[in-house]
Amino acid sequence: MKIMVMKIAILPGDGIGPEILVQSLKVLKAISLKFGHKFLIYKGLIGAESIKKKGLPITKETINLCKSSDTILLGAVGDPLYDNDPTRNIRPEQGLLELRKKLCLYCNMRPIKTYNKLLKVAPIKQAVIKNVNFVIFRELTSGIYFGNKWRSKYEAYDICTYNKHIIKKIAMKAFETARKRKKKITLVDKANVLETSRLWRETVKEIAQENQDIKVDYIFIDNASMQIVLQPRQFDILLTDNMFGDILSDEASVLVGSLGLLPSVSFGNHYSLYEPVHGSFTQAKGKNIANPLGSIISVSLMLENFGFQKESFLINRAVTESINLGITTKDINTKNPCTTSAVGDFLFSSILNKRKRRIR
Ligand code: IPM
Ligand code: MN
Repeated sequence: MKIMVMKIAILPGDGIGPEILVQSLKVLKAISLKFGHKFLIYKGLIGAESIKKKGLPITKETINLCKSSDTILLGAVGDPLYDNDPTRNIRPEQGLLELRKKLCLYCNMRPIKTYNKLLKVAPIKQAVIKNVNFVIFRELTSGIYFGNKWRSKYEAYDICTYNKHIIKKIAMKAFETARKRKKKITLVDKANVLETSRLWRETVKEIAQENQDIKVDYIFIDNASMQIVLQPRQFDILLTDNMFGDILSDEASVLVGSLGLLPSVSFGNHYSLYEPVHGSFTQAKGKNIANPLGSIISVSLMLENFGFQKESFLINRAVTESINLGITTKDINTKNPCTTSAVGDFLFSSILNKRKRRIR
């Protein structure tokens, strides 16, 4: 058995970020006890926490820590203090955006998979959401998030920029993944209106020409937002820009039952970062009610991507078990909810106690 030593940068951030990461670390501890792996954990500051302690949403120290680690686990960033005061020009989110940009994490993958046990939790008809399984490929380092911004008292702009190179890079990743899945990609854009979308479409069409084993279709964002709740099973890979991907992923979480369940990975050529899709959910901070599964499933994705299939499988199995037994937080279990830490404890012992079961 291959033993790994992995240096992981942990950025707990704001709101519920720290408490959900504690549960992810429990899961990593269980994996390390079971398989002998060593996870070397180094903590760094980001977001409002970093502003409070260092005056900046992210520091060189944190960036360097991330660059010198094998991978990064992030909790959440954001604080209503800043959301409710638009005049502040230092904001927690800038820390995450700078980290994504500096590490060139252009490709953000957000898997959307429904659990049978949770079909009745979601507000959409069960027949519509059963067996939904698609992945959103969201570009993460360009677009309206990163273009020039300007404002005067009565006017403002945010420029959306894309270049062919970056579109090509994320599109190639989507094609690679499509080849391992259902060989189908849907590009989501607004090519009837936006120049950037026309560049996306043109670029993806060129790649499609050279990769004819993959079926590619094209859909406008307004229609895609409707199709996601009408007929979500038609999708396998949704490829889209930064802003559209942000919006579609929150929408898609409704199919699964809770935003708290969604994992994500962001990677570039050298670095990777794993984080739940949900935000800092400050109202729940310190109450031990937040769903840790989005972060824990991200850890499972991390192990899978580092080649540790058995470890990842064990985490997924424990997660499914917790969902099936209702050992879950109140976002998906209103009748008899468990605390955040109880979910973490259950997963810890579930991973460790089932030595005799065969691992496929
Ligand atoms: C996400 C979040 C971030 C984003 C925020 C916190 C800047 O909503 O990762 O989806 O908009 O990208
Ligand atoms: Mn978002």
